[in-house]
Amino acid sequence: MDKINILIGSTNPKKKIEITNITKDLNIQFTLLEELNNAPEILEDGKTFKDNAVKKATAFAKWNGSLTLADDSGLEVKSLNNRPGVYSARYAGEGATDEMRIKKLLAEMAAFSAEDRKARFKCAIALANPEGLLFVVEAKCDGIITAEPRGKNGFGYDPIFAFPEYGKTFAELTPETKNMISHRAKALLLFKEKLKESLLF
Ligand code: IMP
Repeated sequence: MDKINILIGSTNPKKKIEITNITKDLNIQFTLLEELNNAPEILEDGKTFKDNAVKKATAFAKWNGSLTLADDSGLEVKSLNNRPGVYSARYAGEGATDEMRIKKLLAEMAAFSAEDRKARFKCAIALANPEGLLFVVEAKCDGIITAEPRGKNGFGYDPIFAFPEYGKTFAELTPETKNMISHRAKALLLFKEKLKESLLF
């Protein structure tokens, strides 16, 4: 069977690597927005990860005339009333780095005891074609915010998100292990089931 081409509606190369690795049993060629010219900016103004994933997938699919996957993900901290949530990328302002976001979150949580450091990563993944949305799936992964950043792997908030079962942060896990347990891994498993149910495979 021919390879299916799917655009990823993101500029994050690390997301492309995770998505490609987790779906490597399928015959999919992924392209990242960065690899195309003049991609439009889509305002992520939805109230939920699902809203934003659907908005990005449908807008980029229409723009590029192709099947498009969009992942919207972020971190919810229970004691912060689920902040930063859909604002995870903008938590330390536009143009801030991962390090700045981590520093801000650790400072905000400095006085919190171990019991009050529960958090979860959430991920919504939508697939659209130029005519509109095909489907959207969602998943989560529970963990604990550490007191200090630990580990060099992954991206984003990974150095301060500990996965209790392994006693390690996502940034201390190998990419292979993160890709078996993460919110994105779980969402992509559901994504693969939907893809196989659809007429695409
Ligand atoms: P977006 O989905 O690209 O808008 O990302 C939202 C924010 O959550 C960004 O700051 C990401 O770095 C962060 N984020 C999303 N997924 C992960 C992950 O798997 N690990 C760590 N941070 C993540």
